[in-house]
Amino acid sequence: DKGEYRHFMLKEIHEQPRVIQATMEGRITDSRVLEQALGTEAGSLLDDVRHVQIIACGTSYHAGMVARYWIEELAGIPCSVEVASEFRYRHHVIQPDTLFLCISQSGETADTLAALRQAKDAGFRAALAICNVPGSSLVRESDLVIMTQAGPEIGVASTKAFTTQLVALLLFTLALGRHNGLSEKREADIVAALHRLPGQVADALALDGKIAELSKAFMDKNHSLFLGRGAMFPVALEGALKLKEISYIHAEAYPAGELKHGPLALVDSEMPVVTVAPNDELLEKLKSNLEEVRARGGELFVFADGGAELQDQPGIHVLQIPEVHPITAPIVYTLPLQLLSYHVAVLKGTDVDQPRNLAKSVTVE
Ligand code: M6R
Repeated sequence: DKGEYRHFMLKEIHEQPRVIQATMEGRITDSRVLEQALGTEAGSLLDDVRHVQIIACGTSYHAGMVARYWIEELAGIPCSVEVASEFRYRHHVIQPDTLFLCISQSGETADTLAALRQAKDAGFRAALAICNVPGSSLVRESDLVIMTQAGPEIGVASTKAFTTQLVALLLFTLALGRHNGLSEKREADIVAALHRLPGQVADALALDGKIAELSKAFMDKNHSLFLGRGAMFPVALEGALKLKEISYIHAEAYPAGELKHGPLALVDSEMPVVTVAPNDELLEKLKSNLEEVRARGGELFVFADGGAELQDQPGIHVLQIPEVHPITAPIVYTLPLQLLSYHVAVLKGTDVDQPRNLAKSVTVE
């Protein structure tokens, strides 16, 4: 039931404050992650992990890419991320002390399951699943499971499944970090940021009207570019995937530092450029990337934190996002991009919940 909403996608976007809260429920105290809440054996399993291999497809793969930044920064453990359809068809090396982490909303994605089954034969320490569907194949075949509490996701374009995957991955990262020198102080700081998250996500939703306004600039465009740096690069990838999936506008995402190495040649007034730029240590670098785009007549849409001192000016539209902790920023910044693609699709009159050529769950190759 869509309730008051015109599409399931919009309903699911608006459910995020609640389902993010539900995904943390019972798993954190004021200042710590409750490791046992991730599974009774979590502690002993996490103790011996020396490497994390993440496997997923589509949006779930983007969640894995964000997690890599967290895992290497907070737990200091090397982490590789690969799309399942590539991993399963190449010769790969899995170290015995590897935690094999599959991320899947449905738990039935054929490539992800095949990768897990193959890796089992090759040997690893343990398999962890981050999944939204209880009793799914992925859940049944994994040693440790962290369920996202997104509830059924009907829209083909994944929204609430992604942000709850990120929350589950951050809880996991903190637990892994505790076994690998993450200080109590840092953990408490990030757990406090998690407690603020549902409210911040609701604040981001309040930007809906402004985003609907911005979306008009995309309606008649054929191409667009999304830029981010660090953990915001996968957020840019996810924003681009959403736009192409439901509005059929070609969208590509780049880590902003790669602009000069090729894509800058594409930029002109017909190519809107979307940037996700929280006020973190990479902002100064990103500002010079923005200048490069502007100098070529590109129209810029910047989602930035209020402290970023970026102002609306000719060719630059700035949408201010409430200030957030740098670690949880990828979660909050995902919402305006979901809303942007939603509004562009509505303006274009596409089938938002059931885009052409796509299925919700890819259970065959
Ligand atoms: O169920 P899964 O998370 O394994 O699905 C993976 C992808 O098929 C899925 O995320 C797909 O990319 C979505 N349509 C993206 O919106």
